[in-house]
Amino acid sequence: RRWAHSSPPFAGLSSVTEDDLAHFARFLPPTSILSTLSPSATPSSELEPFNNDWMNKYHGKSTTVLKPRTTDEVSKIVKWCNERRIGIVPQGGNTGLVGGGVPIEDELVLSLSNMSKIRSFDDVSGILVADAGCILQSLTDYLAPHNHIVPLDLGAKGSCQIGGNVSTNAGGLRLLRYGSLHGSVLGLEVVLPDGTILDQLTTLRKDNTGYDLKQLFIGAEGTLGIVTGVSILAAPAPQASNNVMLALPKFENVLPLFRETKRQLSEILSAFEFMDRTVYDLAVKHGQGRALNPEDVEGANCFVLVETSGGKREHDEEKLNSLLESLMEAEEPLINTGVIATSPAHFSSLWAIREGLTEAVSKEGKAYKYDISVPLDKFQEVVDKTKDHLRRKGLLCEDTVKYVVGYGHVGDGNLHLNIIAAAYTPEIEAALEPFVYELVASYKGSISAEHGIGAMKTHALQYSKNETSIDWMRRVKALFDPNGIMNPGKVLP
Ligand code: FAD
Ligand code: MLT
Ligand code: ZN
Repeated sequence: RRWAHSSPPFAGLSSVTEDDLAHFARFLPPTSILSTLSPSATPSSELEPFNNDWMNKYHGKSTTVLKPRTTDEVSKIVKWCNERRIGIVPQGGNTGLVGGGVPIEDELVLSLSNMSKIRSFDDVSGILVADAGCILQSLTDYLAPHNHIVPLDLGAKGSCQIGGNVSTNAGGLRLLRYGSLHGSVLGLEVVLPDGTILDQLTTLRKDNTGYDLKQLFIGAEGTLGIVTGVSILAAPAPQASNNVMLALPKFENVLPLFRETKRQLSEILSAFEFMDRTVYDLAVKHGQGRALNPEDVEGANCFVLVETSGGKREHDEEKLNSLLESLMEAEEPLINTGVIATSPAHFSSLWAIREGLTEAVSKEGKAYKYDISVPLDKFQEVVDKTKDHLRRKGLLCEDTVKYVVGYGHVGDGNLHLNIIAAAYTPEIEAALEPFVYELVASYKGSISAEHGIGAMKTHALQYSKNETSIDWMRRVKALFDPNGIMNPGKVLP
């Protein structure tokens, strides 16, 4: 494998000009155009949130952000950009963690934030059709009175958009229960790189009429087209939800605990989330959720948050209580304690600890985030090996790398390895890459379990995809986007 940062393919792409703005102004209202080039120039500070990612790690130099209101407007923008060879970065809530949603150079940013209408919902089939710019939380709020939920939940739900979720194939906290978006997304409306509208917004559960083209756009990170509408199968809202935070004396107990939890809770298990002690302490330090009582965390090496979602409260509580009893009474208990939620507020505060880890890590320092799939029994080994490696390089100290932490979706074999540094520096990056990718490849894992490739991992794709696969990915890209205008420099090396 060759390890080299490839330079982004911007040769042949044009910058936005005042003439382009004049063209866009023919069909977009002034409020949909933010540009530092326009006669009534937008201050560059207003473009900052579109040019910088959530972690403030990736920085673009875009002069222009367009916020179309309809699919037709998106189509007109894209058609023009294709003719003029202007690079486009589709942007949703800009919560992505791999630099995919911000420009690398001065590409035009196409924000979906003005496309946030719910198009239809059928409470018998559970099929929801919505504009791509709908915020995930607003879809959840819309569905609640209809006794349904979006089959996806993640810590960024207050900002991320369903179009961004689909484009990253986001996994999240309940994939274990509801599966991947490749299963629950029924149809998509996509504006292709030449401006053509591909209407595959079907509301059919079954449709075996040839190639399932929509699957290509799920997880394409905006490199093949712009998702403007999503048809998704919502799940019936659980009638009862419970959770419990389990404190474990050692990592080795996580796997047997998962096996036992699955066996006893079976159909009501909806999440099984892992966090190591260090990251739990950081969550508490940075005010995420309500800290557990000192006696509950004493001697804990790591924690697992278990959630149940079912149809009958008494039945579910009985199952959860009996799981806890059997765990505590075992000859060699797998857990030290279990803190079971006793009220809806308590339930939310336990979740807030887990959901707040990303924010806690970011508040502590600059995070190098590796979102990997490795065998479950290797989670701790990966963290330990990375820590040892950094220590040997003399980089594990307060003013370089402060912490190496692990958390993630055990149920999905997905570990979030986070290296928290005082600053992003070339020295730390060189110590981590390709080290981490080689480690992942040695377990035959994936270098991106759920966050995507974005700008961060284009040069590492070969650690998880063979040459033939990358070659066919390139061919697909060239077929849809021969001029290379869609999210240039992302996904493909
Ligand atoms: P953006 O960040 O705006 O964009 C992400 C990518 O999708 C970019 O490549 C962009 O070009 C493309 N894109 C966006 N919208 C469109 C569109 N309409 N058409 C075509 N391309 C588009 N991810 C997980 O998988 N699981 C998690 O549990 C999880 N938790 C998170 C928690 C926090 C606190 C944060 C900050 C992020 C988390 N993420 C998680 C990462 C992130 O991938 C998701 O938040 C989300 O799916 C991104 O949606 P977005 O609308 O913000 O997309
Ligand atoms: C999570 O599981 O919390 C998210 O994927 C975000 C992260 O990795 O920090
Ligand atoms: Zn995650």
